[in-house]
Amino acid sequence: MKNKLKFLVVVGARPNFIKIAPLFEEFKKYKSIKPILVHTGQHYDFEMSQVFFDGLRIPKPNYNLGVGSGSHGVQTAKTMLKLEPVVLKEKPDIIVVVGDVNSTIAAALVAKKLNIPLAHIEAGMRSYDSNMPEEINRILTDQISDFLFVTSESDKKNLLREGIDSKKIFIVGNIMTDTLLKMINKATGKILEKLSLKKNNYAFLTIHRAENTNKKEILKGILEAISRISERIPIVFPIHPRTKKNVEEFGIETILKSQGLITIPPVSYIDSIGLMKNAIFVLTDSGGIQHETAILGVPCLTLRKNTEWSITIKSGSNRLIGVSKVKIIKAVFDVIGRKKKRIKTIKYWDGKTSQRIVRLLYKKINAR
Ligand code: UD1
Repeated sequence: MKNKLKFLVVVGARPNFIKIAPLFEEFKKYKSIKPILVHTGQHYDFEMSQVFFDGLRIPKPNYNLGVGSGSHGVQTAKTMLKLEPVVLKEKPDIIVVVGDVNSTIAAALVAKKLNIPLAHIEAGMRSYDSNMPEEINRILTDQISDFLFVTSESDKKNLLREGIDSKKIFIVGNIMTDTLLKMINKATGKILEKLSLKKNNYAFLTIHRAENTNKKEILKGILEAISRISERIPIVFPIHPRTKKNVEEFGIETILKSQGLITIPPVSYIDSIGLMKNAIFVLTDSGGIQHETAILGVPCLTLRKNTEWSITIKSGSNRLIGVSKVKIIKAVFDVIGRKKKRIKTIKYWDGKTSQRIVRLLYKKINAR
């Protein structure tokens, strides 16, 4: 057996932080694992990054590459340029990447070009929409990974269809569930009080995806629908920096001034769970929120035509409603009038995903 095994974990954007928190908790149980955390700096605002490190007690990164914003090419290339020397210096036994952001694919490429084993957590997810930058990141990362950790049987099937060897695929469940189950009871009503909201008497909204926010007509249509809905029910809207920037650039800020629409800066993990848990329904284009609402048992209306979280549609919590103004309004009024559906629990989404991953990687890397 080797001495200490070096696990180098790379993160860059908000959803990544939620995925690695339970992994680092699990590493603590293994004296012979030396974790090294690299933050690429893709997300850098306090509310988009540090607040998650603090709230989820993630250790301070050993390296922050300070990559920041830029075009996809610039962001990916900068990450590769800055990560390679770190990897050459640290010589890890394995590199672990999570999710589907630009930092994920950049780190995956660096790992494999240096012949270092690569593990991808949340592999096999597919929206089958190649216009989504995340879909490209997922497909390419999966093609070059050595250990592919999937959340469900159907994600495994997606990988098999792409010719990936079944020996590399492990169904371990959803790592974000580990974080959610651990934090759920800590999510109090404080944020509701602060915003003067009552339980089950408001909706929660997030929009940040490039395809929904980069075109004026689409963003304007979504916000006009939201504004109409907010006349009937208060809507809390923590606004992503990209969405905020685009609303200002398109000169459509007045729509955000609608009565009943409560626009706030991005919120911490705990506040986000607290707001979701007590909402009558959630409107979103986020991936993570589709799965969180599935576990919380809150109806989710997804502002997209497709989803990589198809399991949440099957389990009954989620509905794809697209982005047309008329359809959004109709779907929302429909959900307000309905009784809550019974939501089925999802196999392996039990809070033990990080245990399964670390145990398996430890065994496999030791055996090499
Ligand atoms: C990225 C991920 C997306 C994920 C999302 C979560 C990719 C391709 N996309 O999208 O899958 O759902 O993170 O938020 O990696 N900005 C700031 N401060 C920040 C971060 C971003 O102001 O801390 C602004 C910048 O103007 C930036 C824009 O937001 O250009 C977009 O940020 P970027 O990292 O490119 O992608 P996200 O839209 O956040």
